[in-house]
Amino acid sequence: MTDMAWTKSDWRAKPRVQMPDYPDEAALKAAEARLSRYPLLVFGGEATSLKQELAQAGRGEAFLLQGGDCAESFAEFSSDNIRDTFKVMLQMAMVLTFGAKVPVVKVGRMAGQFAKPRSAPTEARDGIELPSYRGDIVNELAFTPEARIPDPTKMLEAYTQAAATLNLLRAFSKGGFADVHKVHQWTLGFTEGQRVQQYKDMASKLQDTLDFMTAAGLTADNNAELHTVDFYTSHEALLLEYEEALCRQDSLTGRWLAGSGHMLWIGDRTRQPDGAHVEFCRGVMNPIGLKCGPTTTEDDLKRLIETLNPENEMGRLTLIARFGAGKVGDHLPRLIRTVQRMGANVVWTCDAMHGNTIKSSSGYKTRPFDSVLREVQEFFAIHRSEGTVPGGVHFEMTGQDVTECTGGVRAVTDEDLSDRYHTACDPRLNASQSLELAFLVAEELSGLRTERRRAAS
Ligand code: PEP
Ligand code: CO
Repeated sequence: MTDMAWTKSDWRAKPRVQMPDYPDEAALKAAEARLSRYPLLVFGGEATSLKQELAQAGRGEAFLLQGGDCAESFAEFSSDNIRDTFKVMLQMAMVLTFGAKVPVVKVGRMAGQFAKPRSAPTEARDGIELPSYRGDIVNELAFTPEARIPDPTKMLEAYTQAAATLNLLRAFSKGGFADVHKVHQWTLGFTEGQRVQQYKDMASKLQDTLDFMTAAGLTADNNAELHTVDFYTSHEALLLEYEEALCRQDSLTGRWLAGSGHMLWIGDRTRQPDGAHVEFCRGVMNPIGLKCGPTTTEDDLKRLIETLNPENEMGRLTLIARFGAGKVGDHLPRLIRTVQRMGANVVWTCDAMHGNTIKSSSGYKTRPFDSVLREVQEFFAIHRSEGTVPGGVHFEMTGQDVTECTGGVRAVTDEDLSDRYHTACDPRLNASQSLELAFLVAEELSGLRTERRRAAS
């Protein structure tokens, strides 16, 4: 029904925010025309499978792990970086699967996470004011007038990088790298702390279990689950010219697919119920994420749920709560109750990053790791008291040994931030911090299971 009343260009008639004004109209048209002839990056059947897996997360039968860069960058593009981020995701997923006995839905903020919303349209330095950097798909980070001009050909470069990234991720997922027997090899050399030892112990136990299965004749040969993983991609659907050019009709179902990635989300700054971003996302068949922040009203949430998931399909809509540590209790209960009153089927997940960004004493944008952990704990506590399902976590992370978030087992301090601060946008968790987060989530989930069992008996 919604499909018939919708076309992929309808967003153009709606108010838009956070999108660049391209000065060269002809160049923009040319780039869009080229992109709209390029092959899709994902297939409709994959988006449907992800939706089914997310539906399980919404019912508490699986758990969503969604993570990766804040912004992918052209300069940091390499096999090693993709591999290391993938390794950290595999480790985190294994901690949850083995530690909390829950299947994990793995979704990278990868292969398309290029465009960024900004808090101000311009940036001033030493009395000079220039347009803000909006991600490598739009303009360049360098603080010069030329670098900051939105360039539509960057969409083509972003597409190429996304295609190559996805290609490598598919190879890693299905080609043997993600085989559970390799669990020991996913550890990165520089990770430290008690959690690393805990991971190694867990990996050894897992190895024992696999050895037992083999000895008992339960060989892994006919169990694809042990050799491969399903790994999905996601990004913020911010640059709608790019999204529209890659939006195609699915050959099997006739429905419209955003072919740029498996899952798209709508950011906290672009979720106006009558705005361009909601208009685009409502018509595509992909699973959709919606950021919910302190300024999300109950009325807006109600309208957004009705618009984005009119058929009330579980797995279609993931609500990504990002309030900040200490503020979850002020906002999550009122939004959970709105959802419950509507009888809406949603997946609740916790973005413990975007409500916890501060400026450090040394001038860097950072996130205290303690706040990240605290927000996750608050998220679980509130779902427990509301009797609803905490379906996943969403985080910014990298497999590189960066110092961008303070705290954690390696105790990154404000002064350390300058050592290895590589992000083009928001500060990310490093591998050690990510592992620590995974163990905390596993503990929360195990606690929940025990409580449920107790309640049932
Ligand atoms: C992001 O996920 O990188 C982001 C900008 O988040 P939000 O829209 O929640 O601020
Ligand atoms: Co971010």
